[in-house]
Amino acid sequence: MIYSRIVSSGGYLPQTVKTNDDLAAVIDTSDEWIRTRTGIRQRHFAADDESSVDIGYHAAMRALEDSPYTAQDIDLIVVGTCTPDCVFPSNAVQLQHRLGCGSIPALDVSAACSGFIYALSTADAYIRSGSVKRALVIGSDLFSNSLDWEDRNTAVLFGDGAGAVILEASDNAGIHGFCIRSDGSAADLLIAENGSGAPRSEIDTRSKYIKMQGREVFKVAVKSMCSIVDELLKETNTQADEIDFFIPHQANLRIITAVADHLNIPMERFIVTVDKHANTSAASVPLALDDGIRSGKIQQGQKILLEAFGGGFTWGGCILTY
Ligand code: ACO
Repeated sequence: MIYSRIVSSGGYLPQTVKTNDDLAAVIDTSDEWIRTRTGIRQRHFAADDESSVDIGYHAAMRALEDSPYTAQDIDLIVVGTCTPDCVFPSNAVQLQHRLGCGSIPALDVSAACSGFIYALSTADAYIRSGSVKRALVIGSDLFSNSLDWEDRNTAVLFGDGAGAVILEASDNAGIHGFCIRSDGSAADLLIAENGSGAPRSEIDTRSKYIKMQGREVFKVAVKSMCSIVDELLKETNTQADEIDFFIPHQANLRIITAVADHLNIPMERFIVTVDKHANTSAASVPLALDDGIRSGKIQQGQKILLEAFGGGFTWGGCILTY
């Protein structure tokens, strides 16, 4: 039986930091409102000449540097992003060239904030099928270009960032199992509608900004994040007590706390980084994983549960032994 396992991780946050007070200087908000409603203290924004490929590249390099491998050892690149640099070539193909990999398969996966979990499950399936041995999996999103500074409900919630892991074939799990879900029935609650394939009659009227009905999204997010944990524990025959660390999507501290309460698990077993970088979409889970590994909290042999929720809606997770 072939499994996949995470060998190393890397994260990258752009240099420009905007605190809640910086935002309060330009829109009608306050540090107190943002902190108490979301747990966010600051976010990073890409430089004028930085793209989602650039930030993904830095995260990938850090993951490679912390592994025994070079770019030539990578057999597959999967990038979770909903903010690609171009429609084509995909971010993954741009990174294949920039990193100097061989002519390997490289593809983007679009699942909003669940993008990394979807990308990881894709790479895991390739590895378990035996068709590749080693994959670079990246979550990279640059939302700062899609924020409407006239809309304080959403503008304060997001930041830019990228996270990456190297995943390789192993005789031992590694990744024990995934649950991956979608439901498009309430798509309007959280939407970025300016796709290049929209009907010509609508293309000039569609907004280029993220639109969200925050209170409704909050309820669906809590419900979905709780249910996916229950499904994962059942699917992999694992007890909640066996999980050393939970790494949820970093959108809002109150959503994470609700999941902890649902499971009756103390917050010390949750990795929380949303205060440092706000909601970085597909980058949020790998950034938090990388933070947990680099800070020494996460140790080899520990059981970790990753989970995410995003626009679509999409949600999912996996349980792994690091
Ligand atoms: N600063 C100050 N006041 C604000 C701001 C702001 N940035 N934004 C909204 N308000 C005001 C509202 O206008 C409202 O004022 P009113 O009572 O006078 O009308 C008041 O604050 C309360 O607004 P609510 O929307 O009820 O606030 P709520 O407690 O629901 O918190 C929030 C809003 C933080 C958006 C919350 O609903 C939330 O976190 N939702 C989930 C959002 C999310 O995480 N989305 C991403 C998940 S999916 C993904 O990652 C893509």
